[in-house]
Amino acid sequence: MRPLIALPQTLSEWTGPVFEHSDIGSTDADLTKHGQGEPLGERIIVSGRVLDEDARPVRNALIEVWQANAAGRYLHKNDQHDAPLDPNFTGCGRTLTDERGRYRFVTIRPGAYPWRNHPNAWRPMHVHFSLFGAGLLTRLVTQMYFPGDPLLAFDPIFQSIPDELGRARLISAFDWETTIPEQALGYKFDIVLRGREATPMEQ
Ligand SMILES: [Fe+2]
Repeated sequence: MRPLIALPQTLSEWTGPVFEHSDIGSTDADLTKHGQGEPLGERIIVSGRVLDEDARPVRNALIEVWQANAAGRYLHKNDQHDAPLDPNFTGCGRTLTDERGRYRFVTIRPGAYPWRNHPNAWRPMHVHFSLFGAGLLTRLVTQMYFPGDPLLAFDPIFQSIPDELGRARLISAFDWETTIPEQALGYKFDIVLRGREATPMEQ
């Protein structure tokens, strides 16, 4: 019944590290441009908006993504599973949301990968997302999945989200609008930071 109380930011927030558009390189959001040549796999466009609980755009949010390559392998020493690395794919990207809260990545559709959590355990295809607010002290982390992936039903991480609507919010939607003819399929993934419609985040 009463207006919300705004919590003032403290010295910790004001003095924390910040970032701006000049910190982002021109190809940081295009993961197909980080090597000497084209990475292998299916090119995709992943785009969407970052919104608050009232569907207002969240501007200048730093979004970082990381993912496996098309064969389901991360460029990381801890990932030693028997699938090839791609010399032209690091699997990492970043961008800032624009004035309307929009972001866009060009990347390769990630492969599923085994993770030994239980017998015959495979992670569904996914892209990890990290979001920072105006500074580096508030961070949210989640994962984006792909529609129609048969592994979603068997994945204990995806299934750990208790309600069906919450799980549905983590699955991107195929999107003709952002598909580029003869180039790449488009997937839409909006992220809602708070409220009833909030995108589930990792603890
Ligand atoms: Fe992963």
